[in-house]
Amino acid sequence: MISISVDQEQCKKCYSCIAECPFDLINQDKEGFPQLRKAAIKKCIRCGHCMAVCLSDALDITVSPFAESPVVDKGLLPSPESVEHFLLSRRSIRTYKKRPAGHSTLKSILDISRYAPSAHNAQPVHWLMVENPDEVRRLAGMVVDWMTELKVFPGLTRAWTQGQDKVLRGAPHLAIAHADPASSEHPIEDCTLATAYLDLAAHSQGLGSCWAGFLVQAAMHYQPIIDALDLPENHQVYTALMLGYPKFRYRHIPQRDELKIIWR
Ligand SMILES: Cc1cc2nc3c(=O)[nH]c(=O)nc-3n(C[C@H](O)[C@H](O)[C@H](O)COP(=O)(O)O)c2cc1C
Repeated sequence: MISISVDQEQCKKCYSCIAECPFDLINQDKEGFPQLRKAAIKKCIRCGHCMAVCLSDALDITVSPFAESPVVDKGLLPSPESVEHFLLSRRSIRTYKKRPAGHSTLKSILDISRYAPSAHNAQPVHWLMVENPDEVRRLAGMVVDWMTELKVFPGLTRAWTQGQDKVLRGAPHLAIAHADPASSEHPIEDCTLATAYLDLAAHSQGLGSCWAGFLVQAAMHYQPIIDALDLPENHQVYTALMLGYPKFRYRHIPQRDELKIIWR
């Protein structure tokens, strides 16, 4: 059962909680203190913003308890220059060391991905983390089987027969984002954003990554891969990311197209 509690000694009646609630589920009681409207029972999306934005730490909410919600540490926030350099220096990595990333590292970047935005805060994203490099290679082989059947990407299938994995690039790990399409209005965007967060979190920890588009296509259409992934009923694969330590370090930031934009 969702409820809020307001410490009336602390509350400054700034009404930031009322202003920030995405669905106007907080109003004022007779004394002007914030209170939850009945509609919250059905409409609250558990975003926790009312608690998190309170200027005087006066508001608590059952769905995101104050005591379990860390304080934003301004000292830990990167400068705009750091953010820019960090984002621009991320690259798709296609040559990996054999050294595994380790379970705790993979878990820590997945944990960060939980904080990606999702429509209505539905958080529908599930992960299949293929930690075992042999299993990643087996899946790459199945993607090649699919391409061979369809007679597409002959270069990739030829490379495979010559011992080169151009599909999953010999990455030791593969993170696959999947969801029940009924669990969100925007499962594609939700999975894409979670994967983008995972990608950036991997970069922050010195891991390399590369989006695995071929694998996703095969996982949508090729029954042997669908069977091998053995996801919960009705779940679809939306995105996937190769992961591992990069063999080579990029020394430069390559050029990209100019902004395509209309200003009005
Ligand atoms: C949806 C998506 C699917 C992709 N699939 C693959 C893939 O299957 N294999 C691959 O080598 N790179 C894949 N990429 C990586 C792109 O080729 C890469 O992002 C692009 O060339 C720009 O390079 P950068 O990421 O280093 O900036 C994919 C990227 C996206 C966004």
